[in-house]
Amino acid sequence: MTKTLEQLRSRRWFAASGMRAFAHRQRIQQMGLRREDVLDKPIVAIVNTWSDLSPCHAHLRERAEAVKRGVLMAGGFPFELPAMSLGEVMVKPTTMLYRNFLAMETEELLRSLPVDAAVLLGGCDKTTPGLLMGAISMGIPALFCPAGPMLNDRHRGQPVGAGTHTRMFWDEYQAGAIGDDEWVHLESRMTRSPGTCNTMGTASTLTAMAEALGLCLPGSSSIPAMDAAHTRMATTCGERIVAMVWDDLTPQRILTRGAFLNAVAVQMALGGSTNAAVHVIAMARRAGVALDLDDLDAMARRVPVIANLFPSGDRLMEDFYYAGGLPALMQVIRGHLSLGELTVTGRTLGEQIAGCEVGDAEVIRPLSNPVSRDGALAVLRGNLAPDGAVMKPSAATPRFLRHRGRALVFDSQPQMLAAMADPALDCNEDTVLVLRNAGPVGAPGMPEWGGLPIPKKLLERGVRDMVRLSDARMSGTHYGSCVLHISPESAVGGPLALVATGDEIELDVPARRLHLHVPDSVLAERRARWTPPPEQYHRGFTRLYKDHVTQAHEGCDLDFLQGTAGTPEPDIF
Ligand code: FES
Repeated sequence: MTKTLEQLRSRRWFAASGMRAFAHRQRIQQMGLRREDVLDKPIVAIVNTWSDLSPCHAHLRERAEAVKRGVLMAGGFPFELPAMSLGEVMVKPTTMLYRNFLAMETEELLRSLPVDAAVLLGGCDKTTPGLLMGAISMGIPALFCPAGPMLNDRHRGQPVGAGTHTRMFWDEYQAGAIGDDEWVHLESRMTRSPGTCNTMGTASTLTAMAEALGLCLPGSSSIPAMDAAHTRMATTCGERIVAMVWDDLTPQRILTRGAFLNAVAVQMALGGSTNAAVHVIAMARRAGVALDLDDLDAMARRVPVIANLFPSGDRLMEDFYYAGGLPALMQVIRGHLSLGELTVTGRTLGEQIAGCEVGDAEVIRPLSNPVSRDGALAVLRGNLAPDGAVMKPSAATPRFLRHRGRALVFDSQPQMLAAMADPALDCNEDTVLVLRNAGPVGAPGMPEWGGLPIPKKLLERGVRDMVRLSDARMSGTHYGSCVLHISPESAVGGPLALVATGDEIELDVPARRLHLHVPDSVLAERRARWTPPPEQYHRGFTRLYKDHVTQAHEGCDLDFLQGTAGTPEPDIF
């Protein structure tokens, strides 16, 4: 134990002698609490991203009660604090626009209130990095309690997963292979219970990476949301955070470069979402750790995909849990991990995964029999992406990993969607579809438009994949030969802005190359004529975001929130 009672941050609110401290104790009692409830014990914030419109977090109110039980049993006192709930599917234009909003809210909530530590409740895509970025910047002990994946579902005897199968069935519906009645019926399949997407989408990727970083209890990210073990895990989170206060176990002590590389290794072994490339760099920058796209590419070349989960494989998260979950997977790749890294338990990662075994080698494969050797991520560079772009080879059609084709360019999502339905659209399966003005500044918020739909006339001919390029992101649950996160983005004048329909584009994933076959002199002429898209946002958070967001290869954080420069603690008077 390194912290004394007198050093508790909350005592500055409750144990002081002035009129203001009197008011703090007075207002505690106004809520029916006793002054001794908040004196002489750690105060734990439970930052909860529950809302009535966040289906992946529908159970988090009950889980907050379990966390409270744990805090009380360990001698602390809990307060639940609501934070912005980013339900991935409901929020428009995109939750990515608000990840930094949640990060700011989390940091400022924790700073402005009398709390000594925080348990963070979230899991749907951007909530994990949002909560963690805020907690990292605040710097008090913090423990992430993952929402957990929803239960498996089946349709016509086959496992169906959230996101992945929505896109598959949509393509079949567009192609006329699925009728209207079945399409309506499918609305109630695939998403069987509260909890995050049950595929290896962004949610499952990020919660697993949070665990690999050392910020979760061991095994917690794999527990299905509706399993009784999930409630027990939440109680243990409450118990553990109190001990973390006395040990002063802050994120800064846990988040080393080794911890971040562990998270990246896990991303690759899972066949995780390309979105993680943006979030892990943003989190590292908050922690003052050097990490860039080259680190991710290097890890992807070393660690094959061994988790047999949609969209790279054919199983779901509940199967992953039964197979031993993340600790078992980390045992398989232990040779790629830094096992001495500290975690929220006070033990090292190596100590935590010792003795964990794979229960089903078809779900968590041995390194000798991976799901894909092509890798979960490839970082591409070239005259079209000087600062990088990403792709997920394990979820792409192998023949497109080396491809040269004619560009068909769209300047906006509405224009692109209208064209996809046009039976006269001039394209074939070798055409390279290009969408621009979909990046952090251009969209704004870098939405998941990067999995451009296949033109309807090609769907009807049986085409299910094409090479697609954009400065957008793609849902982690989706699949296809999509080059994403092109940086710098077109809206700030990146080379993507200069591509014209008919240009030849070359993609060479083994060589990590993305090249626009247009002479430099022609590109210079086009640049001289280029003007940025007209400004539509003149106020509010979106204005702030557009003025300060960094590019994809830098993590898309707001520039003034990066780094470790401290913010003074609020004065107490
Ligand atoms: Fe919430 Fe996928 S929509 S995790």
